[in-house]
Amino acid sequence: MKHYLQFADFSADEYAYLFERAALIKHRFKTYEKYQPLTDRTLAMIFEKASTRTRVSFEAGMYQMGGSVVHLTTGDSQLGRAEPIEDSARVISRMTDIVMIRTFEQAKIERFAQYSRVPVINGLTNEFHPCQILADLFTYIEHRGSIAGKTVAWVGDGNNMANTWLQAASILGFTVHVSTPSGYEIDEKLAAGAGAISANSYKFYSNPMDACRGADLVTTDVWTSMGYEAENEARKAAFADWCVNEAMMAVAAPDALFMHCLPAHRGEEVMAEVIDGPQSVVWDEAENRMHVQKALMEYLLLGRIAQ
Ligand code: CP
Ligand code: NVA
Repeated sequence: MKHYLQFADFSADEYAYLFERAALIKHRFKTYEKYQPLTDRTLAMIFEKASTRTRVSFEAGMYQMGGSVVHLTTGDSQLGRAEPIEDSARVISRMTDIVMIRTFEQAKIERFAQYSRVPVINGLTNEFHPCQILADLFTYIEHRGSIAGKTVAWVGDGNNMANTWLQAASILGFTVHVSTPSGYEIDEKLAAGAGAISANSYKFYSNPMDACRGADLVTTDVWTSMGYEAENEARKAAFADWCVNEAMMAVAAPDALFMHCLPAHRGEEVMAEVIDGPQSVVWDEAENRMHVQKALMEYLLLGRIAQ
């Protein structure tokens, strides 16, 4: 049994398979071809933080594949009343076939997985957001082909998305040019997680313009992630210059794409001209969450499928 708790849990070969599979599953969806390999399977979704995309993509995706879903939040389950995570894992995994969790510390999802009888998927933790990077990479490949050897500019917080980009770069052979305000840098040891960050996959720039120079993909995220709301005012001041604008896109490669995992705050981490402009692929990126996660759930439950 396999879990998907961080990007480093899978190899380059597994990602190549998943991207091919996601393309096929997306094609079937787009051509109204019924594909229901997960009939009678149930996905439990546990949300300890808010979500729009993650919930809709997993829920719609599971129904499309013939399965069903159970949606739990901290507020409406015993998770919010201090039932130990180990006990919740034992119980939930006896009644369902696969579990997706969005929570705070990575340690919590790891503990859940340790006591779970079924595969567990990380739907975002403070440290990582692997399903999002899976969708981002698939979107890049759809638009531009292989990402190997390319440069991704990360402008903003050294957060869960940034950490996951670093893991992806080490595994898939591209480079991330990171620019964060001082005090919000990536913690390389934490980003490495279960894997290792290779030295040439990551370069730091104090000036975000320099990080964007020549980049094939420019990407950013909110200044304040969920769980860090108390730091909002301090972050607004610190991040003022880390706003992806047209000048940054102009120094990137001429065919550079712009991505944002969403939700976005126009006028903060990105200008409307960029996110609503011709280089932005954010809506494809959001939609692709569903297609890649369908491929992911199929892989975790059924293994590799011949066609
Ligand atoms: N990008 C993403 O995970 O969005 P939600 O918070 O809406 O799920
Ligand atoms: N970094 C953001 C991503 C939201 C999808 C957060 O953790 O809130």
